[in-house]
Amino acid sequence: MMMKYNINPDIKKAETLPASFYKDAETLELLKDKVFLSSWQWIGDENQVPLSQSVHPFVLLDGYLTEPMVLTKNKADEISCLSNVCTHRGNLVALNSGKSKKLNCFYHGRRFNLKGEFEHMPEFEQTEDFPRPCDNLHKFPLKKWGPFLFAGLSPSFDFQQVIDKMNERIGFLPFDDFTFDASISQDYLVNANWALYCDNYLEGFHVPFVHPDLNAVLDYGSYTTEVYEYCNLQIGYTDEAVEVFDLPEGHIDYGKNVGAYYYWVFPNMMFNFYPWGLSINIVKPIDMNRTKVAFLAYVLDPTKLNQGASQDIDKVQREDEFVVEQVQKGVRSSFYKAGRFSPTQEKGVHHFHTLLSRFLNA
Ligand code: FES
Ligand SMILES: [Fe+2]
Repeated sequence: MMMKYNINPDIKKAETLPASFYKDAETLELLKDKVFLSSWQWIGDENQVPLSQSVHPFVLLDGYLTEPMVLTKNKADEISCLSNVCTHRGNLVALNSGKSKKLNCFYHGRRFNLKGEFEHMPEFEQTEDFPRPCDNLHKFPLKKWGPFLFAGLSPSFDFQQVIDKMNERIGFLPFDDFTFDASISQDYLVNANWALYCDNYLEGFHVPFVHPDLNAVLDYGSYTTEVYEYCNLQIGYTDEAVEVFDLPEGHIDYGKNVGAYYYWVFPNMMFNFYPWGLSINIVKPIDMNRTKVAFLAYVLDPTKLNQGASQDIDKVQREDEFVVEQVQKGVRSSFYKAGRFSPTQEKGVHHFHTLLSRFLNA
């Protein structure tokens, strides 16, 4: 039987998602359709197709959605995000990244242009009513935010409203100068349900308990969470002695010492802006008890790295991993059912649970 999840919109009255949410296989399966396919996913940056007439195949959320997709850039430098599945008999079309004028399926020679439009197929002269629009490669809605790309699968909302919201505070940053740094980017395997990882991210409540070093630079008392429709923001204020943003006059936080802006975007993306640049966490479910967290660093000012609120990100990551893995063991207990929220400290978690239940019930 399908589980029903309802979160009271009043955080003072609400209970958290029940333990069953984190251990029900049917729910994880249902989330594919109801949450992940109904929203937007990070698909990397535009440097994956640096040249005109190039392609970059990839698998979205490999092991979970496992959706074969391909990013293309045509002669006019238009970027498209397409299904990488041939509309003939389902072969994968692009196999390698690099220069390519067309998308040629090597199985029986069907050819598409770099916008995914069907162009040619041998031995199909007698096929009636061919080609039809569905013989083109499926094209995904694509949104660009600076150099970053997001694809909608069958999105139920416009990603522009998320971008606009984030730009209110960090739109002043020179996005095109963000440089990907592979040396400090890595994947972490976490032995816990993906949603537990997000729950933990969405509150600063645990910082004094779990991250003593980070707590020493953050001003816990003024840590705030703002909730928007499909994203939310945690602001880490800090004292003047450590690196803070040089905010332009007229900025909503002008005059305050902001050490970090932590944006979470439904359902599984985190954008952490620091004075040195941006760290992105993409939380990728593998199965009920395992999650891969891709940690990607984009540097703006390397001289500010490893200072203030961004010091020793790896240590903070390990501390989070440890606690989330303990919670994973806890929610599997027969005696833990659900918890309650702190109205002052857990607005972000409540927001996440509300969205999950709303999307699951839609
Ligand atoms: S599967 Fe692509 S041409 Fe047959
Ligand atoms: Fe943490």
